[in-house]
Amino acid sequence: MTAKISLQNVSKQFTVRAGKGPKGLKGGAKEATILTALDALSLDVRDGEFLTLVGPSGSGKTTLLDLLAGLTTPTSGEVLVDGRPVTGPGKDRAVVFQQYALFPWRTASANVSIGLEGKGPDGRKLTRRERAAKASEYLALVGLAGFEDRFPHELSGGMKQRVAIARSLAYEPDVLLMDEPFAALDAQTREQLQDELLRIWRATGKTIVFITHGIDEAVYLGQRVAVLSARPGRLKEIVDVDIPDRVGDEDIRSHPAFVEQRHKVWTLLHDEVRVAQDAGHRKILPDGTAPDETPTTNPSNHERSAA
Ligand SMILES: Nc1ncnc2c1ncn2[C@@H]1O[C@H](COP(=O)(O)OP(=O)(O)OP(=O)(O)O)[C@@H](O)[C@H]1O
Ligand SMILES: [Mg+2]
Repeated sequence: MTAKISLQNVSKQFTVRAGKGPKGLKGGAKEATILTALDALSLDVRDGEFLTLVGPSGSGKTTLLDLLAGLTTPTSGEVLVDGRPVTGPGKDRAVVFQQYALFPWRTASANVSIGLEGKGPDGRKLTRRERAAKASEYLALVGLAGFEDRFPHELSGGMKQRVAIARSLAYEPDVLLMDEPFAALDAQTREQLQDELLRIWRATGKTIVFITHGIDEAVYLGQRVAVLSARPGRLKEIVDVDIPDRVGDEDIRSHPAFVEQRHKVWTLLHDEVRVAQDAGHRKILPDGTAPDETPTTNPSNHERSAA
């Protein structure tokens, strides 16, 4: 079996600029430092698999997704899709972000058809009517039939995210890359969209890589859950999720198999979150310094980074 997606020994480092420090404060990093976001990570995703990815904040999840999307390149190692190195963004891969990223001046239909304005998947340019038909088809797939002419401000958060998903699906990518897509939604809408996404995944056979902070969400959606270690992100463990069919009337979240696997992921993640906290992980400060990457004995720097 060749993997749909293959990360082979992938490392990603960022050069963090020397910062001047916030206005009015002396100090700040004087020299550029190297921040390792991912460290020798290897991971294969099968064709048609639903893989969820969890890890503490700063463990490199978004970086990993950016690499798969072709928005950034690895410092070393290889990122392969269909056995070929990723050299940039491509229509075979779609990204869904936490923020809906819709154009406010475009209707739902026009937002969905954005990706169809160039050449279609078969290389032919679609007519306006064909684009509208395709947009309707995908809006219906995400449960928004009849909402074609609504503008984003007329839609709820959950509906906006449905439009964003429809837009990603409309140009028929093989791979959906999702970065905490439901994090901004209320619990009820989130559960509804989880079921919708499972249904769409079954109907379309897409390969999905789905990042989440929610352990329940990871176990509920994923066929496997990849757990990243605290930064620098390494693959800590892959948990095979073996629970009965999710979509149905049964409350699968109370099923003993679900509870057991949820606990397993929780334990793995909990250890890593503690490591991240002990290391005082914070993201890059606005002045360009990364406090956890440049241990300093200068107390004024500590104070500033804790601010
Ligand atoms: N362009 C960049 N330049 C410098 N450092 C970066 C850049 N992008 C990410 N980083 C750093 O790399 C590390 C991993 O970041 P990333 O956004 O991938 O984490 P994450 O796991 O997605 O975190 P979160 O759960 O908070 O979204 C962090 O320490 C972050 O500050
Ligand atoms: Mg992230």
